[in-house]
Amino acid sequence: MMMPTHTPSFLMIPGPTPLPDAVREVMSRPAMGHRSPEFKQVLERVFPKLQQMFQTQSPVLLYTASATGAIEAALSNTLNAGDTLLVLSCGVFSARWGDMAKALGLNVQEIAVPAGQANTIESLQQALAADTQKQIKAVIFVHSETSTGALNDVPAFAKAIAEHGALSIVDTVTGLTADPFKMDEWGIDLAISGSQKGFMMQPGLSFLAVGPRALAAHQQVKNPGFYFNFTRNIKAQSQFTTAYTPATHLILALDEALNLLLEEGLEAMNHRHHQLKAMVRAGVKAIGLPLLVEADAQASPAVTAVYPPEGLDVGAIRKILKNRFSITVADGQNALKGKIFRIGHLGAINERDVYMVLACLEQALLELGASVTLGVAVAAAQQAANTYLQQQSKALVTV
Ligand SMILES: Cc1ncc(COP(=O)(O)O)c(C=O)c1O
Repeated sequence: MMMPTHTPSFLMIPGPTPLPDAVREVMSRPAMGHRSPEFKQVLERVFPKLQQMFQTQSPVLLYTASATGAIEAALSNTLNAGDTLLVLSCGVFSARWGDMAKALGLNVQEIAVPAGQANTIESLQQALAADTQKQIKAVIFVHSETSTGALNDVPAFAKAIAEHGALSIVDTVTGLTADPFKMDEWGIDLAISGSQKGFMMQPGLSFLAVGPRALAAHQQVKNPGFYFNFTRNIKAQSQFTTAYTPATHLILALDEALNLLLEEGLEAMNHRHHQLKAMVRAGVKAIGLPLLVEADAQASPAVTAVYPPEGLDVGAIRKILKNRFSITVADGQNALKGKIFRIGHLGAINERDVYMVLACLEQALLELGASVTLGVAVAAAQQAANTYLQQQSKALVTV
């Protein structure tokens, strides 16, 4: 049976993520002057809420650009051509920052791990210890590697980098909201996220938290660029305006999204994502499908990458989920295209959605001729949910 056209389609990809009504409806509001007192009031609300999301007292720059723009801003504002950047790579996105750095004329040193693994603290410590001449000016790594679903140990990496003295640059594009992130407490210098991920928003905005050491590095940079320039943007934001015309309606949507997220609470939203991760992993394992990231502790709470049953085509699975059940899951990227599918559980996703995708996945596999015991995935996910909630309430009692 094909889905009738009136059935809303449901995105379970790691961004863009589903839009809550309050966030979606803002887009039909009348035009607003970006220098108006009304818009200034919006920015007065939004900037401190962004700081809360990153757990920082430092400025969080709001760019009308996708997250890649903010990453470029982080590199070009703090490093000079010829400076050495250490890139910890564990998938498509972290590797991309190496390519970007080369395009900006930086000298790139890379530590890569196979797809499905997280970077290790040992290899980072080794590279930093070997750098006796302090050539490494900054280290960039990804919090949650969206292409594989691997999760890096942000506080441990940030500590090692701070001890060496290099700047730490964290791509927390799909980490923030799903996993704890404490910019100031963990001593992170630059952190980047984007609107279409855990922020439950339309694409088009990115957020760049700039710590004091990053700001000091910026003062020494010869060519920090213009549009993304820290000095220009920080000056404007300190007066609750923006340096250039921003995407006004996206910022109105951000105001609504931040209200929803902060009403839920940082810890609660992290727990929700971790619970969903446990449920998806348990469900998929119960069907007998291998996970790309084997170790639970190295698995992202935002997205889970799954291998199809032997001989079954990822495209066919995704097609049935889309056409029969109106659910979109993501394909693999680059070398993993057609080899894995990725279930997003980031943003406005809840337990119900996980039960739904798992039950529909079983049906899709059955339709494709796989041997599936119907109902096992949902049952395993229910167990995982109960176990997670019990552990959480025990933890609360012992606190
Ligand atoms: C971890 C990570 N970093 C960076 C990006 C790039 O973000 P954008 O496409 O918003 O530029 C993405 C996008 O999926 C991502 O998942």
